[in-house]
Amino acid sequence: MLISTCSINENRSIEHIEMNTKKTSSLKSDLDTPCLMLDLDILEVNLQKMKDLAGKAGKSLRPHAKTHKCSALAKRQIEMGAIGVCAAKLSEAEALTAAGLGGILITGPVTTKSKIDRIVSLLAKAPSLIVAVDNPEAVEMLGAALRENGLSMDVLVDIDIGLKRTGVAPANAVAFADLVISQRNFRLRGIQAYAGHVQHIKSYDDRKNKSLGCLAEAAAVFKKLRPKLGSSPIFSASGTGTHDIDLAVPETTELQVGSYVCMDAEYMAIGSDADESRFTAFTPALRLLTTVVSANQKGFVTVDAGLKSLYRDGALPQVLGHEGHGLRYDWFGDEYGKISYDETTPPPAVGEIFELVTSHCDPTVNLFDRFHLTSGDEVVGSWAIDLRGCSQ
Ligand SMILES: Cc1ncc(COP(=O)(O)O)c(C=O)c1O
Repeated sequence: MLISTCSINENRSIEHIEMNTKKTSSLKSDLDTPCLMLDLDILEVNLQKMKDLAGKAGKSLRPHAKTHKCSALAKRQIEMGAIGVCAAKLSEAEALTAAGLGGILITGPVTTKSKIDRIVSLLAKAPSLIVAVDNPEAVEMLGAALRENGLSMDVLVDIDIGLKRTGVAPANAVAFADLVISQRNFRLRGIQAYAGHVQHIKSYDDRKNKSLGCLAEAAAVFKKLRPKLGSSPIFSASGTGTHDIDLAVPETTELQVGSYVCMDAEYMAIGSDADESRFTAFTPALRLLTTVVSANQKGFVTVDAGLKSLYRDGALPQVLGHEGHGLRYDWFGDEYGKISYDETTPPPAVGEIFELVTSHCDPTVNLFDRFHLTSGDEVVGSWAIDLRGCSQ
C-alpha cells in the first residue's frame, strides 16, 4: 500500500487515500464481502453541506470522530474547515493525536487515576486538547496532576440537558464551574450540552421544540458563565438530528455532529423540515456490501452479513434502492442475514451483491478494519478505521 493523493473528479482531490497498488479490485463488484464502503461522492456532498450550513450560521464545526473512527476522514473534515474533532474516549483522542490531528475535544468523562495520567502525557503532544468535565473529585484529581506537572489545560463544563447520561444539572453548573476555576490549572473555555435523547424524535416539529427547550437551559448557564470565560468562549452542542435547529440558537458556537458523514437507517427514518416522512438533509455514504450465499428457499435468500457485520440497533438495515418495498433485510444469526423478496422483484441469485444502509453507523463501523472508498462503480482506495476498538 502507498499513501498518495487521488483525484476523484476534476474539481477536487482527496489526500490520505491508500491506493490499491495491486489493482486487483478496481470495481465495487469485485470486493469480497461482507465489507464496508464509503461512497466518496456522497461523502463529499455531506461534508460540504454541513460546512456550508455552519458557515452560513456563523458557527464552527468540531465533528464527532466517534462515528467514523477514521483519522483520515477526520483530516478531511479539518481540511474542509472544521476547527478540530471530538473524541468520545481518551483512547480515541490518543489515536487522533498520534495521527497528527489537533483541536480535539474529549466529550466523555475522564475519571480514573490511570486515565488522568494518560491525559497529562497526551497534553505534551496535544496542547490544544479540551476535556469535558462533570465530577468534582475527577476535577480535583486532574487539577492536582496538572499542578504536579506544571501544566494547564482547557476544559468545558458538561451540562446535562435531559439525556441524564453525563453532565451537571443546569442549576448546579455555575457552582461547579467555580470549583473548576478554583483549581487554577484549568482554563474554563465554556460548556458542552448534548441532547442525545432528542436526536431521533420522528416528528421534526417535536424534535425542534424539544431541542430548543434543552438548549435554552444550557444557553442560560452559558450566559451566566460568560464573564468567567476567556475571549473565545465555547458552547459545543448538537447532533445530526437537530443540526439545523441548533444552528439557529444564537449562543451555540460550534456543532459536534457525528453521523451526518456516514448516515444510517435509524436517521433516514426520522422526519425533516422538508419532508415529515424522511430525513432529507444527508444521504447515506456508508454502505455494507453483502453477497447472496444460498437461494434454496421460496421468498427469501441468505446473505453473508449477520450480527457480526451489522450492529443491531435502531431501524432495520435497508437494501439500497428497495427502501420500504421489494427487498427487505432481516436478521438471520451471527453470520447471515435474510433478504426477502416480493412479487415485484425477481428472486436474487447466488453471487448477487447488495448494498445495505446500516442500522446504526457508529457501532457497525467499529466491526471493521477499513472503509473501501468508491466513486461510482469504481473502488479508488481505502481508509483504515484506525480508531476501531478505542473504547477506553
Ligand atoms: C456527546 C456526543 N456529541 C455528539 C454526538 C453526535 O451525534 P450524531 O451522531 O447524532 O450526530 C454524539 C453521538 O452519540 C455524542 O455522544
